[in-house]
Amino acid sequence: MSNYKRILLKLSGEALMGNKGYGHDVEVLKRITDDIKEVVNLGVQLCIVVGGGNIYRGMHGSNQGMERATADYMGMLATVINALALQNIMEQQGTQTRVLSAIPMMSICEPYVRRKAQRHMEKGRIVIFAAGSGSPFFTTDSAAVLRAIEMNCDLLIKGTQVDGVYDNDPKLNPEAVKFDEITYDYVLKNNLNVMDMAAIALARENKLPIKVFSIKEAGNIAKVIKAEGRFTKIQGE
Ligand code: GTP
Repeated sequence: MSNYKRILLKLSGEALMGNKGYGHDVEVLKRITDDIKEVVNLGVQLCIVVGGGNIYRGMHGSNQGMERATADYMGMLATVINALALQNIMEQQGTQTRVLSAIPMMSICEPYVRRKAQRHMEKGRIVIFAAGSGSPFFTTDSAAVLRAIEMNCDLLIKGTQVDGVYDNDPKLNPEAVKFDEITYDYVLKNNLNVMDMAAIALARENKLPIKVFSIKEAGNIAKVIKAEGRFTKIQGE
């Protein structure tokens, strides 16, 4: 069992591509969806916000000269592709899911309706939120915090390539030290590169705790929820 009733999992698009440079690694997808199934077995209601960076990055597009709003919409469409991929693999494993898109696309998934999403979760379905917040200039991290608050989640867990938040980039600096716990204010003041500032500020305002962990290790999602394994918890004072 878990102390948490409802949790939002933020998955980056990059997590779905494994060691490939682009798109999906189906073996990695299956491993992640196995881990997600384990969480459902803990009796937790789960929803997911998935990014799109394995297919298209809005920021990259705008750096290349594309208008930022258009580039962000292209990124949102990439998240819909990822949501459908996750849904398909999960349903092959017998997990009930619903995809709800912030940009209505009636022919391929349901439109986002807050109360409908809550109902789906009460019925034990995993809700996958696609198309971020539906608005350009907001990251999928901000969308994840927004949806977590709207859904009254007790916790947001963010699966990344590293096992928590460090005082320095652990890939560049082997001396970097991992925090076990850290405050929203510390993250904001020190500009720690864990989520964008808007996402952290929104979490702080709404007292939403965040756990950052590595999605690369099998079984980690359930462990982090049970406060086992390695992660960093971001919360208030
Ligand atoms: P309940 O209302 O709890 O029974 O939920 P439900 O999702 O099972 O019922 P519903 O009849 O609303 O949906 C049945 C299936 O149709 C599900 O797979 C939904 O995801 C899908 N669905 C519902 N609305 C839409 C939509 O607007 N577009 C698409 N493409 N699928 C939809």
